[in-house]
Amino acid sequence: MKVVVIGHGGHSKVITEAILSNDDYEIVGYLDDKYEGVSLVGNIIYGPLLSAITLVDHFYDINFVIAIGNNEIRKEIVRKLNFSDNRYVTIIHQSAVVSPTSKIGVGTVVMPNSVINADSEIGKHTIINTGAIVEHDSEISNFCHIAPRATLTGDVQLEEGVSIGAGATVIPGVTIGSWSTIGAGAVVINQIPSYCTAVGIPAKVKKVKKGELID
Ligand SMILES: CC(C)(COP(=O)(O)OP(=O)(O)OC[C@H]1O[C@@H](n2cnc3c(N)ncnc32)[C@H](O)[C@@H]1OP(=O)(O)O)[C@@H](O)C(=O)NCCC(=O)NCCS
Repeated sequence: MKVVVIGHGGHSKVITEAILSNDDYEIVGYLDDKYEGVSLVGNIIYGPLLSAITLVDHFYDINFVIAIGNNEIRKEIVRKLNFSDNRYVTIIHQSAVVSPTSKIGVGTVVMPNSVINADSEIGKHTIINTGAIVEHDSEISNFCHIAPRATLTGDVQLEEGVSIGAGATVIPGVTIGSWSTIGAGAVVINQIPSYCTAVGIPAKVKKVKKGELID
């Protein structure tokens, strides 16, 4: 399968290696607004983001993955490109352990040594980063990011756009509201409302997303 990677920074390096860990995929391009025009170097196309629209007109068999860590930006790119879901590919690194009873949406990337356990559901354009654990029966919505070594224990619910910081733990049965951020190393033991930043052990809401300090 031919894959064009959208975003060509640090996160895309890891996604590149995840793609190359799978013999079924071939990278044919990188799109990023740091490129002003479209060029072909070797067999790889480089160009700005919106050249994706021209590419699909010329190549019926290319698929995309968005390799950008920021959840809001991934959502905005999906909106701008307005492609159907079948234009996006799900990337799973060969070293990840993915339960056959789990479901993973299009555009989602599952990084090295991560684990997705039984009956979990992951939405679209989400990142399950290096060594993250998503335990049984968890539900993760679209445009989320589970950072390296974060652990969602069983039956955790994440609404759209949630970001879980590196090494954070969410105990069973907790729901985190849409577009909230959990700080690195936090332990979440209570429900977290939408549009908040929560940090610490146990995690407490520190900010609401308009930058207003709660305490
Ligand atoms: C939580 C986080 C998003 C806050 O970032 P921010 O909005 O810029 O907030 P600030 O740095 O201004 O910090 C606000 C307060 O929270 C505290 N804080 C920030 N992050 C914290 C954390 N992880 N744990 C405990 N306290 C934290 C700060 O000390 C500060 O406290 P104060 O108001 O008493 O001085 C960020 O610190 C964080 O942990 N991000 C996760 C990064 C990560 O894991 N990335 C993965 C990349 S793959």
